[in-house]
Amino acid sequence: MTILDGKKVSNDIKDEITEQVKKMKAKGEKVPHLAAILVGNDGASLTYVGSKVKACERVGFESTLVKMSNTTSEVELLDKIHELNEDPNIDGFIVQLPLPEQINEQKVLLAVNPDKDVDGFHPANFGKMALDMTTFIPATPFGILELLDRYGVETKGKHTVVIGRSHIVGRPMSILMGRKGFPGNSTVTLTHSHTKNITQITSQADIIISALGVPNFLKAEMVKDDAVIIDVGITRVPDDSTEKGYKITGDVDFVNVSKKASYITPVPGGVGPMTIAMLLKNTLLACERHRKNV
Ligand code: GUN
Repeated sequence: MTILDGKKVSNDIKDEITEQVKKMKAKGEKVPHLAAILVGNDGASLTYVGSKVKACERVGFESTLVKMSNTTSEVELLDKIHELNEDPNIDGFIVQLPLPEQINEQKVLLAVNPDKDVDGFHPANFGKMALDMTTFIPATPFGILELLDRYGVETKGKHTVVIGRSHIVGRPMSILMGRKGFPGNSTVTLTHSHTKNITQITSQADIIISALGVPNFLKAEMVKDDAVIIDVGITRVPDDSTEKGYKITGDVDFVNVSKKASYITPVPGGVGPMTIAMLLKNTLLACERHRKNV
């Protein structure tokens, strides 16, 4: 069994990006600038956005964090998005999800300039992704592809089962794994809350990508020998024995499933750090595209 070490690979990617930024600086070019809008004070979102800003510093990017209150109106958020769309200093930006209930997420995602949409959530970018056109691939699916690529995990002709159909992970992942090329060329089954007899499906899978958010959902008896297991779950489970009072727990019963798996991602230290690395990569791409005006 091989651990797909997202922490190590993400550090490698950050080192590669750092080198590229140094070269850009040496040529007198503007360094990439990522902005993040955070609405409200959800603890997990604060942590994620904080990690994204810290990662920018690490690779030499500029970053801007826009914090808006929990009572921000949809119009106020849309105004801020238009401001960032127009700001020539900002190469890319994200609006951290979820948003407070008074704000319509679809309207927000549609308002982001697709050329600055480094999350790849705008329908124009999502459509391009599905059509194999150059675009921004959403960071978590992009990170999973990169992990599979760097570890040389075979995907061609394999049966990939994706658990969860979220717009951020499950849905794009199901499209990407079925695309032509590597990683891809898989036969994909997308499962969700209405799927019947999920164990029958997962136990036939060569690759399982679980993005459900239910701690320890995937048990050893749901997995066949030598399966590749990608755990996207990052749920905070109360735990008094830790300093923070919670433990980050994945969708996979790691202790038992890892005994059967050929490759498996840990939680934490698997997919999570890869998401941040690929957001940086998308921001670098956005900056290069703006410079070349393509
Ligand atoms: N919330 C959870 N994951 C993500 C992500 O990748 N991007 C944004 N904007 N919000 C998220």
